[in-house]
This record gives sequence, C-alpha cells and structure tokens, in this order.
Amino acid sequence: MCGIIAYVGDKPCAQLLIDGLRKLEYRGYDSAGVAVHDGTQLVVRRAAGKLQSLQDLLIAEPIAGTTGIGHTRWATHGPPSERNAHPHVSGRVAVVHNGIIENHVELKQELEAKGRVFASDTDTEIVAHLVELALGTGASLLEAVRQTLRQLRGAYAIAVLSREDPEKIIVARHASPLVLALADGAVLAASDVPAILAHTREVLFLEDNELAVLSRDGAHIETVDGVKVERAATTIRWSLVQAERGGYKHFMLKEIHEQPRAIEDTLRGRIQLEHARCVADELGVPETTAKAIRRVVLLACGTSFHAAMYGRYLIESIAKIPAVVDLASEFRYRDPVICEGDLVIAVSQSGETADTLAALKEAQRQGANVLGVVNVQGSAIARISNGVLYTHAGPEIGVASTKCFTAQLAAMALVAIHLGRTRGSLSEERASVLIHELVKIPEKMRAALEQDAHIQQIARDLVSSHNALFLGRGVSCPVALEGALKLKEISYVHAEGYAGGEMKHGPLALVDKSLPVVCLLPDDPTLEKMLSNVQEVRARDGQVLAIVNDENTAKSLAKWTIVVPKTEPELSPLITTIPMQLLSYHVADQRGTDVDQPRNLAKTVTVE
Ligand code: AGP
Repeated sequence: MCGIIAYVGDKPCAQLLIDGLRKLEYRGYDSAGVAVHDGTQLVVRRAAGKLQSLQDLLIAEPIAGTTGIGHTRWATHGPPSERNAHPHVSGRVAVVHNGIIENHVELKQELEAKGRVFASDTDTEIVAHLVELALGTGASLLEAVRQTLRQLRGAYAIAVLSREDPEKIIVARHASPLVLALADGAVLAASDVPAILAHTREVLFLEDNELAVLSRDGAHIETVDGVKVERAATTIRWSLVQAERGGYKHFMLKEIHEQPRAIEDTLRGRIQLEHARCVADELGVPETTAKAIRRVVLLACGTSFHAAMYGRYLIESIAKIPAVVDLASEFRYRDPVICEGDLVIAVSQSGETADTLAALKEAQRQGANVLGVVNVQGSAIARISNGVLYTHAGPEIGVASTKCFTAQLAAMALVAIHLGRTRGSLSEERASVLIHELVKIPEKMRAALEQDAHIQQIARDLVSSHNALFLGRGVSCPVALEGALKLKEISYVHAEGYAGGEMKHGPLALVDKSLPVVCLLPDDPTLEKMLSNVQEVRARDGQVLAIVNDENTAKSLAKWTIVVPKTEPELSPLITTIPMQLLSYHVADQRGTDVDQPRNLAKTVTVE
C-alpha cells in the first residue's frame, strides 16, 4: 500500500516529506520519491528501494522549496523501479497516487491517441496527463483535477502539484484513505495519521468523492461536484505505534479487518458484470491458453497451499477441468509428470518462497505454462511465470497470512470463472450469479467481522485448551486446514484440520470432553453430512464450535455458535475464514504470544 504525504507551509519541505514518509514505512514499499516546487519549477527526485536511497539522493542533490509531495510506492502496475516510482510528471504537473485506476487501459489508449507519451508502466501517470491536458484548455488547477477525477474509475488518493501554483496542492480521495492536518503555518495531507503526528494531532479525514485545496490559508474541502464541505477536526489520541496499526493492537488484527478492502481491490477492474465474464487480460491466462488446457496443477506452501486446494475445487466444479494440487515443497522430490496442456498455477503471497519457486522451475523445465498468483509485484515468481495474476491485498506485515489468503481465494474464483466462461463449461446464468455474489463478498465480510467481540468472548473459553480440531467438507475443507494452521502458528496450540469424512478413519479417537472441535457448517450440499460429524463429536462429549449461516443449524449440538452471512456455496470460504482468523487471533492474544512475529517463523521463507 503506497504512502502519500503533501506539505504546503513556511518551512523547507524536502526533508520534512522524507521524515513523514519514514513514518509510513510500516505500510511496505519498494521505491520512493518527492516533487518540490522550488519557486520556479517542479524538481523531482526518485529512487528505487528504501527511503535511505532517496535520502542520499537529496543530500547529493538538495531541493529548496516549501510546497511538495512525497510518496512511497508498493507496486501494483509495473515492477518496482525508479521509472515507476512516484511522483509522475506530465508537463507542468506532478502527481502521487495510492490505489488502482480500474479503467487505466482505456484511458491510456485514449491519451496515446492524443499523442501523449508515457514514461512509466503505472496507472498513475494517466492522472498526470489528464490534469496536464485539462490545464492546457485553460482550466484552473482545481477544475483540471475535477475534470480528471470524473474520468477515473477505481480507487485513489492523489496529491497534485502544478508549476503554475507554487503554494497550492490539490488532494482527492475515493476508496483510498487520506487525512488532512492543520499545523502551525502549514497544511499537510497524508495517507495515514503517523505521517503527520510530528506536526499536529488535529486532523480532518477526507471522505470518498471529496477533494481539498491545500494552501497556507488552510484546507478548503469540497465534493468532486463542487459542493463545499464543512468538516470538524478530530483529535488523534493514539501513540505513534498505535497509529501505525490503525488503532489495532496488532498488525494481524488490522489485516483481518482490511479484508473487505483487499477483496475489492483484487476484484477491481477484473469483472464485467453485464457480460458475466472476467477480464482475460487482467488474469494472466489468455483465451487461447485457457481453451487448450487439459489439466491444472496447483503448487503452493502453507496458507497458500490451502488457497490452492480451494482453487482445485473451483476449477473442477466451475470450469470442469481436471485439477490436482501439490505441496510445492514435495513436488520436485517426487518424479512429477507434466503433460502437454497442463497449466501450472503457483500460488504465493510473497512470490519468493524457495520451495514454490523451485517447483515452478521444475514444471517449466518440463515445458509447463505457469500462471503465478502472487501479491508482491516484481517478486521472483512474478518475474519468471508465463502469466501473473496479482492479488491486490496490499503489504501484509503479520507473519500469519490473513488478507493475502482471502485475496488468493478471490483470485481462484476469478480464474475458475474465467476458464469456465472461456471454455463454455460455465453457463452465462450461473456465471452471472457467481459474479454478482462475488461483488457482494466485501459487504458480507464486513458483517462477519462484526462478530469480533463475540469471538473474543468464545476465545476466553478456549484459551487454556491444549488441542483443537477443525472440520469441514468440500469447499470448507481447506478452510478447516487453514483454521488449524492459523491457530497453531500464532497461539502454539496443537490443532489439526480434517475433512469431515475422515473422522471415522482416525481423528474421532481424539475426541473427549476436553477437545474443542470447530465445525464449518455453511449452508451447502455437504451440510447434512457435516451435521452427522457434529453428532459423532457430541456423542463423545466433544465441545462443538459451529460456524453457521443460520443460528438454528446446530443449536442443540453446539456449545458455541458463530453466525456469518450466507453466500453461494462455492464462495463460502471467503466468509467462513474470518471467524477462524479472529478465533486464532484472540486465543493467541489472550495467551500472550507474539501475534505478529510468532516464534520460529519468518514472513518470507526463502530457504528450503
Ligand atoms: C501463513 O500464515 C504462513 N506464514 C505460511 O504458511 C505461508 O503461507 C507460506 O510460507 C507460504 O508463503 P507464500 O504465500 O509467501 O509463498
């Protein structure tokens, strides 16, 4: 997730912008830059890598000036590099941006047809060109930004600086955060509170479809349609560390709550509701490739492996293509056979997992066509895959993967629908139902997140358990495995995830009155069978925690019940995962473990 800072005031601002960006480093970034008005012109400095590189550049080539914008970039369109770092410039205009412009392909084509030449691979540069073009028609900076915003679809927080307006910055937001700060002799804007806490604790939050004109006189806020907005300041009482976590106690909890947004961003620009199709260009599998697939082989480790298991289920049930899933860490130690027509899908949050990388290289050595499903732009798996589908979950800081997992689930749903529609195995009617439901998932996730306090209460009863069992069938089986992995990795409680149908084949022996058994019971064709498993557990005094869509589903059997919104059966893991994550989080927190950095684990496993 990119970080933005903007400053209009009476102090030299280049260093001040860097200091603000440092406070946004926790958001994750791969390059950084500033643009400062030096009284005559806009001076831009950008550098790939850490802020220190930008700092060194500014020491070597300082810039004077008291109006400027700065940015840390987390790549979404185009690899991390100096040329893709913000600010992006067109003529007299410099722009920084956080978010994703959905219609960037069409807008870029239109701009190129008008003779505009692009210097980067980013969607952001479009904004600079659009503002510059509007200024060229005689529009004021404010009017030029307004005209530009009307053409954008997607999510954005932007800050725009023009050579013609040395003491003015226009900022705007839609679905990406932006906060304004009124300090002594200065006005600032930033994508998050920590960047401005050194200046003031009095802030104003910009809302969707609003923009603000920042000048030394203050901040004038209005809607994109020009209606003036009066907004009272809010006093921030968080410490710097609390502010970095958005007020949450841990990054993991923050990331759990960021999931609706992560799914919105992962779906953004990738579905055509009216045609019940996915946008092939966005998914890394061209239609000709999709039509030639005979089998899909999914490779991944850990949490990503559970997303891959879900992918197999959807590719078989929705696209009707044979699919297998393999632990990437095992793949090259068998004698794996790759055949003509195999599409290999490598799923990885970091894109750097050594085992997944090695498995994918082995598959490519045997001639496989590889689709990488990764969250980190420019990562090794993204670079060497034949096609890439990025999950736009934003950087994940907690070692335990949460928002990246559900973003992977959404990506799997997109791939399955895309393959099904392209090959004619998924009807338009069913695709339409699935796609419309997919769009509703973020709202349903928000409703599931409202169970947080209830789940925290349940966790109190479970905090001293030494073991736990998680059960699910069909599409809920990977969720059960993921629930068990989450609990064990952050709370150190021994937990097992099983397919419900396996109970009689062994795990039933574990059940006694001390064993909590988490049962996934969404309303789907496996519900009846799962209820039989619940009966088996109850008959042996096991303590059932039921995740259900209807509170009556397992009322007489469950000791604890968590009700989550119903969705299409194929998509239920996107919702039922949330109580699993919250439960693990609260058990771990109450046990006092290091939730964000569990012992013995690393975020990115670059060794075998
Ligand atoms: C997730 O909570 C774990 N930390 C771990 O299992 C992780 O999913 C695994 O190491 C794979 O990582 P990747 O997605 O970056 O490839």
